[in-house]
Amino acid sequence: MEPIRLAILGATGMAGRDALRHQQWLSEKERQYAEITYVTAGPTSVGRPLRARYEEREAALAKAYPDIWEAQSFPSSLDHLTIQEMDPDQIAMHADYAISALDSEVARTIEPELARRGVHVFSNSSAYRWDPQVPLLVPEVNYNHLPLVKKQETSGKRICNPNCTTAGFIPIVWAFRQVGCTIASINLTTFQSLSGKGDAIADPEYVARASSPVWVDWKPRDDRPGMNEEEWKSSYEPQKILGRIGTMEELDAGIRAQELGQSSSLLPISSRTHRIRQSYGHLERVDIQFKSATFVDEAIRVLRECKIPEEVAFLPTTPTWLFYVTKGKPSYEKNLLAGGGMSITVGDIQQVGEHTLRMWSLSHNLRRGATWAGRQGLELFLSQHVDDWNEFFHRLRQNR
Ligand SMILES: NC(=O)c1ccc[n+]([C@@H]2O[C@H](COP(=O)([O-])OP(=O)(O)OC[C@H]3O[C@@H](n4cnc5c(N)ncnc54)[C@H](OP(=O)(O)O)[C@@H]3O)[C@@H](O)[C@H]2O)c1
Repeated sequence: MEPIRLAILGATGMAGRDALRHQQWLSEKERQYAEITYVTAGPTSVGRPLRARYEEREAALAKAYPDIWEAQSFPSSLDHLTIQEMDPDQIAMHADYAISALDSEVARTIEPELARRGVHVFSNSSAYRWDPQVPLLVPEVNYNHLPLVKKQETSGKRICNPNCTTAGFIPIVWAFRQVGCTIASINLTTFQSLSGKGDAIADPEYVARASSPVWVDWKPRDDRPGMNEEEWKSSYEPQKILGRIGTMEELDAGIRAQELGQSSSLLPISSRTHRIRQSYGHLERVDIQFKSATFVDEAIRVLRECKIPEEVAFLPTTPTWLFYVTKGKPSYEKNLLAGGGMSITVGDIQQVGEHTLRMWSLSHNLRRGATWAGRQGLELFLSQHVDDWNEFFHRLRQNR
């Protein structure tokens, strides 16, 4: 079986570089099914060896944050790659699948162009998360939304993954719902690492700002006073993932009903986001108010015994366990790379009311929250929609 031909768009950025490391990780695990045939970046990077740009970026971060940043090494199997232009015809000539790690403005133009040319696009950007025909996928939670791609008229299909904050807590919500717990509301407080901001953090002005213990660096949302972009995403993207709504119109109607104190299809989620001086990993305090009394022991059991759906469990990027549960708060040193960085560690679960539990989750923003999740979506797509790959995935399923 020939490997699929894969493009990484935005390969030199924070998320893109981790997509390159994922390629190496899959090869080391002997679970490889793709060859990276095309890599793109911004206009000033075109024509340069991928390794040179990658190492330059990592060195700049290690210099800017010497106390917390260790430059990551370049995957040597990709030494032959040179950064190419973002020309949709060229991309379609060299690749059939693309992982998009582009800013949303750039993604908005190129992603549909690629789909029209038959390239299947797995996007980390927010550009099309609210397109009603595009699944917003966290494979363990809503793998059953994948058939939505059949509504897309283009020969190439587009699939998005949610923002990294949502990716870090929505599986917890799903796990409780799986065992029949009804959730009344969620209060989220995040402490997000620097890498979530992308390579802009190497800018000297940003470096100066990042000497504070905690700060907020998202744009305020014009249409939602008191809410920033990240708070908006982590309050509303979960609604589409949980299947409570499918379109922006339904979202607007739900928000309006909430504001008027009327019943709404939305799960009430309030979010406060912060940035902290950590290299990787988002720590999130998740307060869950249940409709009925729920206790710490029960929550620990639900998370420890949570089974990943069999449609997803055998995919090369899926971890063995979705959750690890710790007594105290999760630790960056010990827990961030659990399950290859695809597991979520939940700890310090406390009773803060008969109906309310408080817990801390730690997730890897680039892996569970970005390009590794995109690759997991690609694997799900291959296993369900591409006949040629049935046997490969069937074998993985048998060998589990
Ligand atoms: N960082 C995270 O934790 C994270 C998590 C989830 C989702 N995301 C999403 O992933 C996307 C990338 O984020 P990031 O943090 O990796 O950003 P980043 O570090 O700023 O990387 C941006 C990438 O896009 C390229 N680029 C910039 N302008 C371009 C243009 N005009 N044409 C083509 N390529 C261009 C850059 O190339 P150069 O090297 O040439 O500048 C770089 O490769 C964003 O949509 C973000 O919201 C990020």
